[in-house]
Amino acid sequence: MRLKRKDLLTIEDLARDEIELILSTAESFKEVSEREIKKVPTLRGRTIVNLFYEPSTRTRTSFEIAAKRMSADAVNISVSTSSVVKGETIRDTAKNLEAMRPDCIVVRHAAAGVPLMLARNLNCPVINAGDGAHEHPSQALLDMLTVKTALGRLEGARLAVVGDIMHSRVARSNIYGFTRMGAEVTVAGPPTMIPPGIERMGCRVTHDVDAAIKDADVIMMLRIQLERQKDAFFPTAREYSGLYGLDEARLKRAKKDVLILHPGPINRGVEISSGVADGPYSLILNQVTNGVAVRMALFYLLLGGAKEAA
Ligand code: CP
Repeated sequence: MRLKRKDLLTIEDLARDEIELILSTAESFKEVSEREIKKVPTLRGRTIVNLFYEPSTRTRTSFEIAAKRMSADAVNISVSTSSVVKGETIRDTAKNLEAMRPDCIVVRHAAAGVPLMLARNLNCPVINAGDGAHEHPSQALLDMLTVKTALGRLEGARLAVVGDIMHSRVARSNIYGFTRMGAEVTVAGPPTMIPPGIERMGCRVTHDVDAAIKDADVIMMLRIQLERQKDAFFPTAREYSGLYGLDEARLKRAKKDVLILHPGPINRGVEISSGVADGPYSLILNQVTNGVAVRMALFYLLLGGAKEAA
């Protein structure tokens, strides 16, 4: 079984049946990580290159672990010690890496569109691990898997995404993904952090967090993306936290079995309190666990695995 595409660049251009295929394949790979010997031979002899131009803990590590659990060789390029610091362009870097015949390149970059540019220039599959404020497709897939596992469905689920929507690639990918799967998405945050016209993506918009979370089945809190903000978008972290953060008091205004997601890294006491992040409704670490299964599925479906696979 394979995806009928060379690359995974966005959720925007994924059809509903492609998302369903990725989620069901990821579901089948989950148990590999629960085994004592966490390895299947599926991608033996294949080589995956992780090319990260931005910091990452979860995404880079889980792509590497996913590759290794599939028996592929994973190579991590540390940009700060590569020839990038001597002025090599990303296209040249990627072409030189491709000359060593990897089977897939996973790329994260601060500029939107870099994965697309590489995909057009390279013969091997390219996976977008986050490009600027554009998209973070594997994050949305693991978020959808987490919600589907917890709720048993995506169709009709009510998702509230709260925080810095403007600078969030996670928000964009999740709006595309959840709405395509039949969920209702509401985004909430300060007016300065909601891009004008975002309703055209199929979501509702409010600046009132309490209204957004009142009937939600799932609340996804987002970090303020200070690294992408050139101007001051809010007065102080304390004020932001009071108006838009999720703490135990605000959580009481949501449904009593609401699920809490956050893509990480979390800023405790800013967009989410420790009591909520570590509380009984939090699925934040489930998201991280599911990230490995989703990335195993992506490698399997893009590279094609052997029949003895899982
Ligand atoms: N969720 C996410 O992208 O986290 P990292 O930046 O640690 O990869």
